[in-house]
Amino acid sequence: MVPTAEHFDVVVIGGGPGGYAAALYGAAAGLRVAMIEKDKVGGTCLHRGCIPAKELLETASVFRSVGDAERFGVKAGGAELDFGVTMARKQQVVDQLHKGLSGLVKSRKITVFAGTGTLGPDHAVTVSGGDETAEITGDHVVLAAGSVARTIGGFEVDGSIVLTSDEVFELSELPKRVAVIGGGAIGCEFASMMADLGCEVTVLEALPQILPGVDADVVPVVRKAFKDRGITVRTGVQVTGHDPHQGGTTVRLGDGETLDVEAVVVSVGRRPLSESLGLDGTGVKVDERGFVVVDEYCRTGEDGVFAVGDLIATPGLAHVAFAEAIVAVKQILGETAVPVDHAKVAWCIYCHPEVAFAGYSEAAAKEAGYEVVTSKHRWAGNSRALIIGETDGIVKVIAEKRPDGTGGRVLGVHMAGPWVTEQLGQGYLAVNWEATVAEIAHFIQPHPSLSENFGETVLTLTGRGLHG
Ligand code: NAI
Repeated sequence: MVPTAEHFDVVVIGGGPGGYAAALYGAAAGLRVAMIEKDKVGGTCLHRGCIPAKELLETASVFRSVGDAERFGVKAGGAELDFGVTMARKQQVVDQLHKGLSGLVKSRKITVFAGTGTLGPDHAVTVSGGDETAEITGDHVVLAAGSVARTIGGFEVDGSIVLTSDEVFELSELPKRVAVIGGGAIGCEFASMMADLGCEVTVLEALPQILPGVDADVVPVVRKAFKDRGITVRTGVQVTGHDPHQGGTTVRLGDGETLDVEAVVVSVGRRPLSESLGLDGTGVKVDERGFVVVDEYCRTGEDGVFAVGDLIATPGLAHVAFAEAIVAVKQILGETAVPVDHAKVAWCIYCHPEVAFAGYSEAAAKEAGYEVVTSKHRWAGNSRALIIGETDGIVKVIAEKRPDGTGGRVLGVHMAGPWVTEQLGQGYLAVNWEATVAEIAHFIQPHPSLSENFGETVLTLTGRGLHG
């Protein structure tokens, strides 16, 4: 007798932020949910991405602070790094979060299948390659298979000389000299972390500017801070290959120069992991870059099948995946769903100084046809920044220009500096609530606080400021 496939309200393929958010949110609404994961629930973000990266950046911050303690009159002695303890703590944080997430999944009575899920016709999903093989079906299916690190030709990842983010998190010791290929979010975070922990770092970026998407007034501030900490940033450079040798490799650059390093970190973006999803006989389409094609409601070409997270061509951020999962599940529940406004999501890059932004850069706003007015404030005039001794960076607010030259609606908030990833909240709300400068300026910022710099920058756009 052919066993009847177990049926669920929702089958989720992938247990990363997109998948587990869909599962948790759906189960919280009373849906019967299955989630298929081939590795560990938590996905890239928890095991090989955001969480371990930020944890290591925290070690970098502690090391920097201890090394810098004497200017506060604190004689901490010669700081030394025990990288084994560093990596163990990173793993402890990851494991604790994994345990918590697994407990949450269990308590919501989500059925987890270990293995790879492939989707066929009629919402039939096969689980294979794990401990069990299963055929299951769902009234709805959410595809959330995520992404993997992209590599470049001539740089085969070997885990010792050529690394991606996956391998950096497994290092037993840090390379003394390292080339980071790609100056995006991952490249800048690793460059910053490794430099703070004592590595000699060179960032090699193909474009004329690192940190794509970040306002042109913010990027140079980060570059200068990197330079002051000994990080070399080379933009507009091509890497053509490398010649491994005992103890490292020689990276060949397009201009004929070479760079001798112990390791290369390739951080040139990520690609969607759609190839293992099956999809034969379904209406789900995959574009030429491998992204599952969806509309603004995360609906694929197959009725009742949604796709979210890094699998679709939207910003590859865990919090975006969470939001897309909620959009999908609301529709499954028959509720009104509001699409994610991808142009206005929060971007937070945890290098030192941190970078955070939401909405248009000045150039992008002008390109979109807005007449804009901007205001910029440095941290040197902010009391809290001086107190904590972190004055690198800038806050820039981009607003629509009103006829009298003052600022109207806030179009973008771009920041670099101390704890800006935590401060972006106000800027994110301003941009997404379509608040005007006058509306925000009415509200009070606590004194002394880092957030005063945002308040001051907005206040200036009303035509009259206090301190700047
Ligand atoms: P990215 O797309 O942010 O940056 C890649 C950089 O590599 C670009 O500047 C690109 O011009 C450059 N590049 C590409 N090919 C190159 C080559 N052959 N030689 C030199 N440079 C080259 O990608 P990244 O940094 O790998 O991050 C991937 C994604 O992960 C991001 O788009 C983001 O969605 C997510 N992420 C976000 C983080 C955050 O928000 N804090 C942290 C880490 C990742």
